[in-house]
Amino acid sequence: MPRSVIVGSGTEIPPNCVTNEMLARIMDTSDAWIRERSGVETRYFVDPGTGTSDLGVAAARKALEMAGVAREEIDLVVFATMTPDHYFPGAGGLLQTKLGLPRVPCLDIRQQCVGFLYGMQVADAHIRSGLARTVLLVGAEIHTGFMPYTAACWDYLYGRTETPPPKADYDWNSRFRHLVVLFGDAGAAVVVRAVSSDGRGVMDHLLHTDGADYDKLYVPGTGFKHRPYTDPEQWKRGDHIPVMDGRYVFKMATTRMVEAAEEILKRNGVGVADLKLVLMHQANKRINEYCQKALGLPDEKVVHNIQRYGNTTAATIPLLWDECARDGRLQPGDLVLMVAFGAGMNWGATLLRA
Ligand code: ACO
Repeated sequence: MPRSVIVGSGTEIPPNCVTNEMLARIMDTSDAWIRERSGVETRYFVDPGTGTSDLGVAAARKALEMAGVAREEIDLVVFATMTPDHYFPGAGGLLQTKLGLPRVPCLDIRQQCVGFLYGMQVADAHIRSGLARTVLLVGAEIHTGFMPYTAACWDYLYGRTETPPPKADYDWNSRFRHLVVLFGDAGAAVVVRAVSSDGRGVMDHLLHTDGADYDKLYVPGTGFKHRPYTDPEQWKRGDHIPVMDGRYVFKMATTRMVEAAEEILKRNGVGVADLKLVLMHQANKRINEYCQKALGLPDEKVVHNIQRYGNTTAATIPLLWDECARDGRLQPGDLVLMVAFGAGMNWGATLLRA
């Protein structure tokens, strides 16, 4: 049976670098608080008009180039995002047409921060069953659409005006400060391909969902439980912006990520010493430091880039993969563990040989 190997990867980072100090211009926060509590130093934002599919397309082009795979060879597109260009249709089909791919099936999945790992399982299942030989798997997000800032705030944030926003805007932004400082925009993609028995490829997946506490991290408004699904009252309440119980998410993320890592390693007879790299979802550097300690992982096996990009949800793990593949930290044959936890609640792990 063929194994699913990541044969190429690519990343697209938007043009606007936003520091913590810049955010402190438009809400009650500080560089010290954000660094201390989350590890984030900068994040990148798209310009208005850029869609998540655009970030995916740019990342996919780079991944196809690295893989040496032609567009015509793609059999399936899996697009993981919680921030698609439109409510429907999904971003996968938009990417397909923008990239000029054949009329292959394009699937959107919405498992938030664990979307990439769910996508890996879908890609692997298609490859193992013979339904596909080459899968384009994308994780991309534009979180700036969730940001509550008015046009005046955006202008002041970027230094385009010297006029500070009204106090009411500053207070409104500050209401969401525990959430909005964490996120950035990015796109990342991998090409997953059937390779026959050279020992490389996906070895195992472990995925879980528990919907019981979904409302600890969710968007209360703009859904079809409402009629109409969006209206000015929801806007006034701020129901279009995610609600997050940060402490609960922190606790569950550390618990579930450690559990998932331990279980997948144990059932594959793999020890920490056998791993070359552990790629953890980048939601908060403190979460990952906790997991690193609990799992007994030395620093050289754990990669962080949240300090530069913030939390990019479905893009974090392919983004880490791409950086390591391009700078040589990841070599063919290296044993890699991916672990993630996020809204849903979803969590899981993937074990593979690069
Ligand atoms: N700047 C300054 N002060 C702030 C900010 C801010 N940006 N945000 C919150 N505070 C204040 C709070 O108001 C509070 O003040 P008080 O003590 O006067 O009441 C104080 O800081 C502590 O607030 P907490 O919320 O208790 O801070 P905590 O240490 O828990 O850190 C954080 C908050 C960073 C959000 C943390 O809980 C966390 O990272 N949680 C997990 C986030 C996560 O993983 N999300 C999942 C990914 S998203 C997805 O899946 C789509």
